[in-house]
Amino acid sequence: MYKALLVNKDTWWVGVNDLETDMFESLWTLPQGVAYNAYVVKGTSATAAIDTVKGPWVDEYFRKVEEALEGRRLDYLVVNHMEPDHAGLISQLRSRWPGLKVVGNPKTMPLLKGYHGVEQDTVTVKDGDTLDLGGHVLQFFTVPMLHWPESMATFDTSTGVLFSNDAFGGFGVHEGGLFDDQKNRARWEDEMLRYYAAIVARYSNIVQVALKKLGGLDIKNIFPSHGTLFRTDVKQVIGLYDRWSRYEAERGAVVAYGSMYGNTRRMAEGVCAGLAEAGIEDIHLFDTARQDLSFILRDIWRYKGFALLACTYNTQLFPAMESLCSKLLNRMPKKRVLGIAGSYSWSKGALTALQEFAEKVKLEKVGPEVEVYTSPTPEDLARCAEMGRNLGAAILAGTVESPN
Ligand code: FEO
Repeated sequence: MYKALLVNKDTWWVGVNDLETDMFESLWTLPQGVAYNAYVVKGTSATAAIDTVKGPWVDEYFRKVEEALEGRRLDYLVVNHMEPDHAGLISQLRSRWPGLKVVGNPKTMPLLKGYHGVEQDTVTVKDGDTLDLGGHVLQFFTVPMLHWPESMATFDTSTGVLFSNDAFGGFGVHEGGLFDDQKNRARWEDEMLRYYAAIVARYSNIVQVALKKLGGLDIKNIFPSHGTLFRTDVKQVIGLYDRWSRYEAERGAVVAYGSMYGNTRRMAEGVCAGLAEAGIEDIHLFDTARQDLSFILRDIWRYKGFALLACTYNTQLFPAMESLCSKLLNRMPKKRVLGIAGSYSWSKGALTALQEFAEKVKLEKVGPEVEVYTSPTPEDLARCAEMGRNLGAAILAGTVESPN
């Protein structure tokens, strides 16, 4: 998006598209990039920027802010979140507009000092405090751990716009319009859920607290700091966050495997065949060594059942599967059904590690657990299919059709 865009009354989008960063947080692949959305609100008596963007985009961001300001000075910067993808240009803004007041909550201030050395010209706000720009009254709500302790959402009481920062954000750049009604829903929802699973999911119980806190507001638009801006059916978008943070699942399954020579892959295909025999249509088979784990996490967050199958590597769990298990334990999905299987040649190890994972993750488990020596026999594959059928039956018993 090449210029500042008016997105509501006196409210401008001044964000940027980043198609150059390969890995978000140096962890999650970005096949369609990521957008850093930032905003300018112009009242009759004062102006405010809501967040900035990542440092390298300084020229483009400043050009858009100047376009939006149309000759006025910038009076305030509201810092909803101090992570550098949104707070990268605080120092530059203060240099450009000396005396600019930086607005944050008590937990913002140490980070502001740490990252930018800023201790003066700050305004510390508490939950529910307001800032009157003249015709636009901004109200601040702390939403701790969405996605850092100092995270905050800013509500424009005049327009009903909620600047939600990471909450409701998604991966992917703006390829055309900014708004939900200008984009393909399946694409933005997929990337919003992948963002949720990778960045937010660990704090799902806190999402519920935040939704209750913001529930009394008359929210007409949600403008996050990544991805799509929502103006069409805001209740439906809030409903997505409500579902994901309550671990509600759709009818379908993930089968993720780690395999060096294809033997464990064949076991995984056996599980898939059993799932299909049970009547499961949405089956997603992933090679953990070749698929960015954010896609696997996304689909585990979407579907009711998942199976993990891995070979043993140097007496331990295959490394890519180990990484997936570690990420799942960090997020602790709930209300899911799990099946596990392992393989080995000169030393056991994988199945034991998956059993330990299953105990820690505390999910309902289906059998049989399958352990295969070298390559699977027809009997081994039949047991994998049996696990798939059992997983399928548990999925059908515990889900309804997709709400969409
Ligand atoms: Fe998009 Fe937590 O920063």
